[in-house]
Amino acid sequence: MNGNRDGSGWWKITDVRVIDPYRQQEWLGDVIVGQGHFQDGVATVGETERVEIVAGRGLWLVPRLLDMHVHFRAPGQEWKEDLASGAAAAAHGGFSAVVTMPNTDPVVDSPSLVSWQIAESRRIGLVDVLPAGAVTKTSQGHELAELWKMEQAGAVAFSDDGRPVADGGLMRSALSYSATLSRPIVQHAEDLTLSGQGVMHEGAVSGRLGLAGVPGAAEAVVAWRDVQLAALTGGRLHIAHVSTPGALEAIQWAKAHDLSVTAEVTPHHLFFTDERVAELAFSPATKVNPPLRPESYRQALLQAMKSGLIDVIASDHAPHHADEKDLPYNHAPFGISGLETAVAAVITVGLGELAMSPLALFERMTAAPHRILGLAYRGLTPGEWADFALIDPDARWTVDPGTWYSQGKHTPWRGMELRGQVVAAMHRGRWTVREGEVLPCAAH
Ligand code: DOR
Ligand code: ZN
Repeated sequence: MNGNRDGSGWWKITDVRVIDPYRQQEWLGDVIVGQGHFQDGVATVGETERVEIVAGRGLWLVPRLLDMHVHFRAPGQEWKEDLASGAAAAAHGGFSAVVTMPNTDPVVDSPSLVSWQIAESRRIGLVDVLPAGAVTKTSQGHELAELWKMEQAGAVAFSDDGRPVADGGLMRSALSYSATLSRPIVQHAEDLTLSGQGVMHEGAVSGRLGLAGVPGAAEAVVAWRDVQLAALTGGRLHIAHVSTPGALEAIQWAKAHDLSVTAEVTPHHLFFTDERVAELAFSPATKVNPPLRPESYRQALLQAMKSGLIDVIASDHAPHHADEKDLPYNHAPFGISGLETAVAAVITVGLGELAMSPLALFERMTAAPHRILGLAYRGLTPGEWADFALIDPDARWTVDPGTWYSQGKHTPWRGMELRGQVVAAMHRGRWTVREGEVLPCAAH
């Protein structure tokens, strides 16, 4: 592998199907990468360069997948996931970049912590880590954090994720700032007084299982309040992990009024229902917030994917250590690991049940999150960084968290067969994954 460590090598990926949502193009042909960037043809390859041929026949090449909602646990809870294991899991999942939520310990609510996460991740070098800073100091919901200073340090969004910004006045201020900063406020829409002690969706299944439930209304009421505040302020609101028809209606209302409101869904909410809690016999691998919802809700999410109401698919990768997670259902923390199943789960449900095109599916994991975060990337344009994943769309594989790079091993997909496998990935002209394995990588 000439030049892999410093990104100076040349590669030609032949006969590959390029799916480039940044340019809204899909085509079959050769892709040339050299000196870290996409190149426009063999003519640019110098006579002395050695070009390695990579057989791309039967594979998809998707530029710069971005997961805009992940939880790495550094600083402070590295036993769940540190920046190196999180980055390796992201690369293994095919991603070139991730947005990390700030609910660490301490909470990322200051420019120095934003800078620290970026610097450490650059040292690791597998993917770009784009931190979200907290909306309120220590995410306690009482006082706004230093949004502008965090943005200057490199924060690409603001969120108190894990909990909502409950105070309407503070949310109004945060949305006002978001308009001037051109970065979104990512809201975890949940009325905590309604979710109470709930551990799964409130409905027939929770009744049958005897578990306390979270009603769909807990999400919908906050979504409706926030779209009203987006209208009041002109701010940029992004609603995370939407799981209810009520929230979808709020988003539809906002879009009909041309507001800067966008929405995200997770692969697990597209895939599973609350029946999964019973099927897996109360396994904490089904405990996630927002909870898995009933089939009618899932159908509404699928419909919203098709209609374009949902802008983004993001994993909400939320790893926990087995010692904390493997507890009785009522006591286990919320959160499942999703980075290493996201692409395959999206291909499986997207090409199967949803019957959507790969271009439309990957748009929601590439160009759309970049646009929402105010980031520029030009897809397969000569001179642009060579960031991409090579995916075998026909490969079938069985989910085994034992093969993962994430330290968090809880997944509702365990033992299931999925379609579509990331076989290789490149970041800034260096291979980060080959033959499905993550390669060690120098800093950039
Ligand atoms: O399931 C979840 N886990 N939902 C959240 O909102 C937070 C996350 C976590 O940090 O573990
Ligand atoms: Zn959340």
